Amino acid sequence: MMQNIPVGIAGLGHAVPDRVLNNDWFAQFIDTSDEWIRQRTGIIERRWLDEDETTSDLFARAGKIAIERAGLTPEDIDLIVVGTVSGDYLACPASACIVQDKLGCANAWAFDLSAACTRFIYSLAVARQFIMTGTHKNVLVIGGEGLSRLLDMNDRNSVVIFADGAGAAVLQPHEACQQGLIEDITLGSDGSGYHFIIRPKGGAKEPITPEILAEGTHLLRMKGREVYRFAVDRMSELMAWAVEGQDVDEVGWVFPHQMNRRILETASSKLNIPNEKVFVNIHKYGNTSAGTVPICLSEAWEAGQLEKNKLQILVAFGAGLTWGSARVRW
Ligand code: UT7
Repeated sequence: MMQNIPVGIAGLGHAVPDRVLNNDWFAQFIDTSDEWIRQRTGIIERRWLDEDETTSDLFARAGKIAIERAGLTPEDIDLIVVGTVSGDYLACPASACIVQDKLGCANAWAFDLSAACTRFIYSLAVARQFIMTGTHKNVLVIGGEGLSRLLDMNDRNSVVIFADGAGAAVLQPHEACQQGLIEDITLGSDGSGYHFIIRPKGGAKEPITPEILAEGTHLLRMKGREVYRFAVDRMSELMAWAVEGQDVDEVGWVFPHQMNRRILETASSKLNIPNEKVFVNIHKYGNTSAGTVPICLSEAWEAGQLEKNKLQILVAFGAGLTWGSARVRW
């Protein structure tokens, strides 16, 4: 029988590498400057994986914290959903299985989900269904990246923006956790824009060759200016969807994908939401793709900034093109 069990967020966690890179570091090998990066993106520094670290280390660290904060043990988790494009291996096996192994979630099943920077919100939507139908009780959702391993160090358009980090959430029936009620989620995609952010070669269409490795076309490429235009409009529409019919006083925070500070300010300025309600941490972490929204959420939780009964709005946009928004009442 179909059920419609309300779903809540029982625990949050995040993890970033210790290695901090400031903007001047990039000016050593590409034509850029601290001033350009700060003004055009809002980024002051970001975290990149150390040589002996992997993306799944970040996933496991973030997941462990979220499970503990939910008051659970790894054995309590019955499903793990990971959203990433930069797992330890080339999509096989799934990062979620590596997380399962690292955390000892012996009773879970696990899979990855691909929706670029929107992955955390897509993953929330998918994971939520398993609880709504009554088939699962504790689902671990992780979004994050080790994008530094997929960047072309000569491409100044992308290398200064993308970074590494992960965030995690444990979902439960709301009745069990009494917080973070996921009221509504909207999702979308427009495949005609698939080529705007892409790893052009090295997939099954054009498998890796020495030539591809030499030209670096297996690495991430972004048409920044085109994405920028789409992103401003779409982010603004998503925020409008989330606040429609809501009293602005009810809104605690907007947690947007940290793509570019200018995009966030332009998108929110089109609405009635004061800028102080838009959570921003791009200055210290850069753009961690699937990691941005859960890292923001986890940081806000740690700082005691998630007020009871306030609406928290999650918004993301990214490659695919994909987008999504979630309305969560804390
Ligand atoms: O998370 C996935 C979604 N991604 C995004 O949302 C990213 C969206 N796009 C952006 O954030 C911006 O488009 C960028 C930050 C990537 C670029 O900023 P922009 O203000 O759109 O710059 P632009 O692409 O219009 O380029 C302006 C100039 C160009 O030089 P010319 O052609 O005018 O001589 C670029 O070559 O800035 C140059 N440029 C740089 N200069 C110094 C591009 N990257 C850099 C750089 N340092 N790192």
